[in-house]
Amino acid sequence: MPFNTALTRKLGIRVPVVQGGMQWVGYAELASAVSNAGGLGLLTALTQPTPEDLRKEIRRCKTMTSNPFGVNLTLLPALVPPDYAAYARVILEEGIRIVETAGNSPGPVIKQLKAANPPCVILHKCTTIRHAMSAVKLGVDFLSIDGFECAGHVGESDITNFILLSRARQSLGVPFIASGGFADGQGLAAALSLGAEGINMGTRFMCTVEAPIHENIKKAIVEAEETDTELVLRRWRNTTRLFANKVTKDAVKIERESTTGKFEEIAPYVSGKRGRQVFENGDKDFGVWTAGQVIGLIHDIPTCSVLVKRIEKEAAETLSKTASLLVDEVPAGDIVGKSIKDPSANPTSEHGAVGKGVNNPEAQVWGIGKSKL
Ligand SMILES: Cc1cc2nc3c(=O)[nH]c(=O)nc-3n(C[C@H](O)[C@H](O)[C@H](O)COP(=O)(O)O)c2cc1C
Repeated sequence: MPFNTALTRKLGIRVPVVQGGMQWVGYAELASAVSNAGGLGLLTALTQPTPEDLRKEIRRCKTMTSNPFGVNLTLLPALVPPDYAAYARVILEEGIRIVETAGNSPGPVIKQLKAANPPCVILHKCTTIRHAMSAVKLGVDFLSIDGFECAGHVGESDITNFILLSRARQSLGVPFIASGGFADGQGLAAALSLGAEGINMGTRFMCTVEAPIHENIKKAIVEAEETDTELVLRRWRNTTRLFANKVTKDAVKIERESTTGKFEEIAPYVSGKRGRQVFENGDKDFGVWTAGQVIGLIHDIPTCSVLVKRIEKEAAETLSKTASLLVDEVPAGDIVGKSIKDPSANPTSEHGAVGKGVNNPEAQVWGIGKSKL
């Protein structure tokens, strides 16, 4: 059954699931597969070396889906920044009207995209409520709230989605989607319950048949647990969550032990070029690559169609199961197979009686300053 949320209404999509921009992953194969599956696929602009290459990729994607898709434009701090205005111009010239923006100082690009006729729908991704509020002033249509669980740039405040999403609901006044840590329909249902209009997923979509990366990397994700990510570059306030491997371990060691604190010392370890090669050669230890804690929830490599259908079904089942939790009468209560109202049930704690005047050593453990352990 299609979902009716602010996101699906605005974009004309069936399932409120967005495939977030992913450097060296967000090509036409993946974006079109997600859009064909009923979600929103996004090309990642900066995977294309020039704006003209992006134009070709957009045209290629159009031949692969007739459903809406968008483009991610990430504004990274760089000594020589890409020509963002030129990328944005190509996006507009090619008729794309859905853009995910992320990164620093998005103001000029958002202004350019909003000045188009018709204006772009902007989903701006950020990791703090403060940044989200600034983006609201810039006129974005949706915030994509990226919790600390997420892959890639986690920000510096380390707030996970349980808090961040409710803060967004309480304070933004603009619709938002939840990003970071989502892989299934239960997650989508939870996000909707917290007030989001949909979810954004990165790592989960990396691990699909259509993601144009080496099979070994997908298998590495399936085998990994939620503890297998590492935060790198914290010292330079550019904290990034990566798949934990030999290179991240070396990088973190340098980060901790360097006496100079010079970025040059760590730069070769966090090279984007080597990270890109990982996706081509399938050697998970060849360089650093991005992944979120959600790797612990990923156990297979489905097609995008199977994945999105599964998420749709799980979310529908979860939402109706949750609705059925509300009943007309207070339940009778049941302890050791008997109604709590039955005096013969006589419930006792497995730790023995607890109460005033009872010599209960465990009670002392919890009494402040009285621990005997
Ligand atoms: C391999 C990879 C590359 C990414 N590259 C970008 C990027 O270039 N720009 C961006 O805005 N987000 C990027 N992200 C973040 C995702 O768009 C998304 O916000 C994030 O993956 C959400 O967390 P999740 O992985 O737990 O779903 C990347 C994520 C991954 C896994």
